[in-house]
Amino acid sequence: MYGVRIAGIGSYAPAGVLTNQDLERLVDTTDEWIVQRTGMRRRHIAAPDQATSDIAVPAALAALDAAGKQPKDVGAIIVATATPDYLFPATACIVGDRLGVAGTPAFDISIACSGFVYGLTTGASLIRGGMYESVLVIGAETLSKIVDYTDRSTCVLFGDGAGAAVLERCKDDRFLGATLGADGADPTVLYLPGGGSRTPYSSVNGEFHDKRLGFVHMQGQSVFKVAVNMMAASTTAALAQAGLTPDDIDFIVPHQANARIIDATVKMLKVSPDKCVVNIQEYGNTSSASIPLALAEAVAAGRVKDGNIVVLVAFGGGLSWGANVWRWDGARVGKVPASYAQPERAAQVATA
Ligand code: ACO
Repeated sequence: MYGVRIAGIGSYAPAGVLTNQDLERLVDTTDEWIVQRTGMRRRHIAAPDQATSDIAVPAALAALDAAGKQPKDVGAIIVATATPDYLFPATACIVGDRLGVAGTPAFDISIACSGFVYGLTTGASLIRGGMYESVLVIGAETLSKIVDYTDRSTCVLFGDGAGAAVLERCKDDRFLGATLGADGADPTVLYLPGGGSRTPYSSVNGEFHDKRLGFVHMQGQSVFKVAVNMMAASTTAALAQAGLTPDDIDFIVPHQANARIIDATVKMLKVSPDKCVVNIQEYGNTSSASIPLALAEAVAAGRVKDGNIVVLVAFGGGLSWGANVWRWDGARVGKVPASYAQPERAAQVATA
């Protein structure tokens, strides 16, 4: 078996910004309620003509820059997303073409907010087994396209963004442990009801929009209860594979779904909050992009140091969950090409 390390990371957030004050004008909510219940203040929102691949590409280029690699150096491309450009083909294929490497194997992972952890685990396994020397893993979402901006219980929560990591073969293995899990007993706890084979567009004769089938539906409290327990349990299980315990954590990057979920998880693990990154106030819940966005922020700020034991832990729709334990080994955050830089502007969202 080969060793694997994270060689570079990158992130990208679209220029549109939706604040709590903007949401106060859209639905019956308040800045105070949102901050107190979720920790969120702003979210970045893709433009109407911006799809998931459009924001995945700059994040990928930044990660490649940090790893000192060209797209052609990558053996496979994995995109974790719940908001693909199309149901098929995979968004990863479009990203590969946009990176100029059509022909490189590319596939999506559909496991909602756990996607980046599933993607890293899959990419690392492909490298360990000897199939590829390097894999590009991207978590990218345009959740604003499937959020119902007339439903206050969900529309305040979600934002858009992308993050990426380049994995590469190395001598001393830096991938110390991983657990993944899923329980599909009740898909309706958190789901997009329409557009799949259970309820195809063609089956509802124009009622798709009236029944809000193309929007996220969520039973928030049910998700909340599972989230804390499963994030803590999968962290402990992944650490145990490496002969470690939560006391050994130098830095933890949890999925950014709700500040209260993050607080309760680190408390359960008895990890000091200063070893944890929270950037939910700026991005909201960006599903599979939240971990690489938060990791990039922490690395850029110098909070993650060489040799650190770093845990990445997620939960999400499925329900699903997973954790990775990595020994940090010099990966830095790359630059997004200047052509993608845009000044911040007020976001446009569809409210009809
Ligand atoms: N503004 C004001 N009031 C609101 C809002 C809002 N935006 N949303 C709901 N309320 C009201 C409710 O109607 C309810 O009113 P009632 O008491 O009169 O019935 C009250 O606030 C309390 O609602 P709860 O749902 O009990 O609020 P809770 O404290 O559970 O917070 C939240 C809701 C934030 C959704 C929380 O349950 C949560 O974060 N759950 C986890 C969700 C999550 O992590 N989802 C993403 C998973 S990742 C993925 O795969 C996409």
